[in-house]
Amino acid sequence: MDYFGTSIFSVLAQMRQKRVEEGKTVIDLSIGAPNIPPAKHILDTLVEATKDPKNYVYAISDLQELQDAVAKWYEVRYGVEINPRTQVCSLWGSQEGLAHLALTLVDEGDVVLVPDPCYPIFADGPKIAGAKLHYMPLKKENDYLIDFDEIPKDVAKAAKLMVVSYPNNPTAAMAPDWFYEKLIAFAKENDIVVLYDNAYSELVFDDAHCGSFLNFEGAMEVGVEFNSLSKTYGLAGARIGFCIGNEEVVKALSTLKSNIDYGIFLPVQKAAIEAITGDQSCVKTTRMAYQRRRDVLCEGLTSIGWTVEKAKATMFLWPKIPNGFESSEKFVIELFEKTGVLVTPGSAFGPSGEGHVRIALVQDEEVMRQAVEAIRESGIL
Ligand SMILES: Cc1ncc(COP(=O)(O)O)c(C=O)c1O
Repeated sequence: MDYFGTSIFSVLAQMRQKRVEEGKTVIDLSIGAPNIPPAKHILDTLVEATKDPKNYVYAISDLQELQDAVAKWYEVRYGVEINPRTQVCSLWGSQEGLAHLALTLVDEGDVVLVPDPCYPIFADGPKIAGAKLHYMPLKKENDYLIDFDEIPKDVAKAAKLMVVSYPNNPTAAMAPDWFYEKLIAFAKENDIVVLYDNAYSELVFDDAHCGSFLNFEGAMEVGVEFNSLSKTYGLAGARIGFCIGNEEVVKALSTLKSNIDYGIFLPVQKAAIEAITGDQSCVKTTRMAYQRRRDVLCEGLTSIGWTVEKAKATMFLWPKIPNGFESSEKFVIELFEKTGVLVTPGSAFGPSGEGHVRIALVQDEEVMRQAVEAIRESGIL
């Protein structure tokens, strides 16, 4: 437990609870908890399957139909061919895989490369495995891309695993094709396994396109991709995601998991099959909902004097804190006290996150307008 301090998220949760108890309004834009429910056909499948008493046994492993559905989904959606029996392992949400993968690859003291800032479990998973972390700063001047030339050669040679993710949480950056080519060459040269987290490939805006890491030549040799049905299909609470790609890595993770859990609740597996093979129009509906929220919030905040760039992707905005504030944490606390609008300080995502806040697009457009109005009225800017 010495690896983990009190997380800022629990501090924010306490502040939130106190304000709720005082009967004051809270507009929570801090945690990336999606509020868009699954489409009807997915919900119906889940409901029907939960009514069947046969579905209450331990699942133990993935249904072959689920493995086949993932393979078909990857072929149709991403143009990637995989062997459904050896290159897919389901996860209790990608979070669970992010927590466990390093345990299969890393010994105490081994080096793991993680982005800074990053989604916290990218660093916490390797920490649980006893890894020594080397942070790769994501800088605005590099469009928040990892700069491979900045990683010292001896560190690169010593590293066993690296975690990479675009569209990126929290910076909302996307990566161009040349980045993937460089990433794969770097991983090959230094014999590093790549854990590529692709949680937000469907939340890209303004007609941009995003594919899969596995679509690039050599990716399957160096790593795996994690995908999640949480945001794309509104299944966050159902907990299902996938580890896909390199056979050895997939096998190691499923072997570890077979010692930890007894598989995913069968109705959730069936709902996942319906989600990824059924009518995909819900994916666009969700994407457009996030895009509209982004537009309302960015345009509103910019119009009252806080310039907030429109994110190209993800469900997050990553603006600089307004001038005159000493730290992102101080700004978040003051903003919350004066307006009831709760966002996350950038420092919660690593040292390079200082100076920014992360705003999650997890409320409807009308609530976003209320947030802008509350900030305007408070005079905090
Ligand atoms: C980058 C990233 N990866 C993974 C997750 C976790 O997703 P899941 O619900 O599949 O565990 C999140 C959730 O916010 C995320 O932002």
